[in-house]
Parts: sequence; structure tokens; C-alpha cells
Amino acid sequence: MAVRQKIVGIGSPRELEEALRAAYYLADDELSTAAYLALALGKPLLLEGAPGVGKTEAAKAIAGVLGRSLLRLQCYEGIDAAAALYEWNFPRQMLALRQAGAYGETIDIYRDEFLIERPMLACLRRPHETVLLIDEIDRSDHEFEAFLLEFLSDFQISIPERGAISAYERPVVILTSNRTRELHEALRRRCVYHWIEYPSPEREMRIIMMRASGVSERAARAVVAAVGRLRREPLAKLPGIAEAVEWAEAATLLNEQGERWPEAFRRSIGVVLKDEDDLVHIAPRIETILAEAQA
Ligand SMILES: Nc1ncnc2c1ncn2[C@@H]1O[C@H](COP(=O)(O)OP(=O)(O)OP(=O)(O)O)[C@@H](O)[C@H]1O
Ligand SMILES: [Mg+2]
Repeated sequence: MAVRQKIVGIGSPRELEEALRAAYYLADDELSTAAYLALALGKPLLLEGAPGVGKTEAAKAIAGVLGRSLLRLQCYEGIDAAAALYEWNFPRQMLALRQAGAYGETIDIYRDEFLIERPMLACLRRPHETVLLIDEIDRSDHEFEAFLLEFLSDFQISIPERGAISAYERPVVILTSNRTRELHEALRRRCVYHWIEYPSPEREMRIIMMRASGVSERAARAVVAAVGRLRREPLAKLPGIAEAVEWAEAATLLNEQGERWPEAFRRSIGVVLKDEDDLVHIAPRIETILAEAQA
């Protein structure tokens, strides 16, 4: 078993939680345990959760803690292996061939300088310096998921012109999904899995105080209460943590410019709800929600 904790000097979930906090990421015990186990066992970490609960940010913070650069592969419908692995720089290959031809020289057009590395190849070649984030895999299609499964099984890829390239140590890989569709069972099995919940009010409060600038504890508490209420409404887009942080900042800004308290929250609602139907749904309730949140 590749015990990675020795490399990074993190000996327990608790130590990881503390290191993440120093990187401005507040993880709860379950998340830091899952992340610690993934690192220690050399397995990919699969994070699922609603939009804005901190999946991408967790990967960034883990890369920061490990002192590695983050290679982010943003998935989308139709993403293919070329976008994930490598491409040949065709125009440069053609130019080099033409120049070599003019001087009567031969040239290897499959040299490194013509190879455009994409995140997965970059991670295989520099596993000790990088963290690979495969973000929002649920947006990709089943073929790409199957390809991913193969990659995660042996951390090896084959470039026909160059042969096989494999990682000399197990890379750190983090996958995220918003669960817009179910991921394949086989993919889940390869990973350490964690479902990120919306934070507890206490933790969201601490996140706002840490991430937002110039916000009073009272304003942060009101935001946490109001956002908690909004998350129980049947909205198309529930507010995430980023929206909570921004709401606290935006309302504070209006308040500094002379707007009274509940009104400052109401006027800045556009940083929290970004869907016309949601705004219409919430309009008759917002006064009550804000009044209760302030109480
Ligand atoms: N645990 C946390 N500690 C500190 N900040 C957090 C935490 N979780 C989320 N945030 C803040 O919330 C923002 C949104 O988080 P992030 O982009 O990671 O969400 P996500 O789950 O990837 O959302 P999406 O599904 O929309 O991509 C971050 O930029 C960060 O400011
Ligand atoms: Mg994200």
C-alpha cells in the first residue's frame, strides 16, 4: 500500500482538517476522513453534492495543502480523450516538416515539442507535483466515463507514436459530480466516496466570517439563517456557500452606504437567487424570511 501521509507530513484526518483550515477551507470530520483515506490509500476521491457546497474548492485546498499544482479537467457533454489526454500540434508539425524539407533534413514530428499535454497526461508525467481534478464528470457521457475507468485502473495511457506512458507513483485524483445523473458502479468502486452536505449553520457562519470581507457576525448569522430557509424552498437553483458569502458581502456594502438592515438583504437578493421563477416564488415570502432570520 502506498502510504502517502509520510510524503505530505499529514498523519491523521484531524491533521488534514487543520491543514485545510490553514488553506481557508473548513472541512467537517467526514470529508477530512474521506480525503485522508484517499490520500493514504492512493485511491481517487469522489466528491458528490449539490452545486456550491465546496467540491471544486476542496480539490483546490487539498492541492494547496500538498504543495502541488492543480490540473483541472472540466467535463462537458461530448468531452473526448483528446481533450483529456493529449493532442499533436498539427500546424507546428507541418511547419517543421516544411522547414526540414527545405534544408533536406529529416525530422521527428512526434517529439515533445509537438505534443500538447492535457491534464491527464500531465498528471501521469508529473504525479508527485500535481493533483488531477476531474470536475463535474456527470456532465460527460458514458463513453468518457468508461475511458476514465480504464485510466483510473492502471494510470497508464498509450500514445501510438510514442508507446505507453505510466505514472511512476499513484497520482492524487479528485473527481466531482453534481449528480445530474448516476455514475457507473464500477467507477464508484475505484474511489473513496463522500457526499458533501450543505454545511451546518455553525460551519457556514465560520466560512462566511473567513471568506467575506468586513462582514459583522450579526449579518453573517442572518445570512446563514435566511439561506438555510431558502434551501428548504422548492427553488430551481438553491443557494450554495458562495452565494451565502456574496450575500453577506453585498448586503454589508449596501448597509455601509446607508441602507437599513432587512432592506439591505432584500435589495441584494440578486446575488443569491439567479432564476426569474425562483425570484417570483420567493417575492411574497422574503419579508417573513428576513424578519425571522434577523430575530
Ligand atoms: N468548506 C468550505 N470552506 C471554505 N469555503 C468554502 C467551503 N465550501 C465552499 N466554500 C466557498 O464556496 C465557493 C463555492 O464552492 P465550489 O465552487 O467549490 O462549489 P462546488 O461544489 O464545486 O459547486 P459547483 O457544483 O457549482 O461547481 C468557494 O469558492 C468557496 O469560496
Ligand atoms: Mg465545482
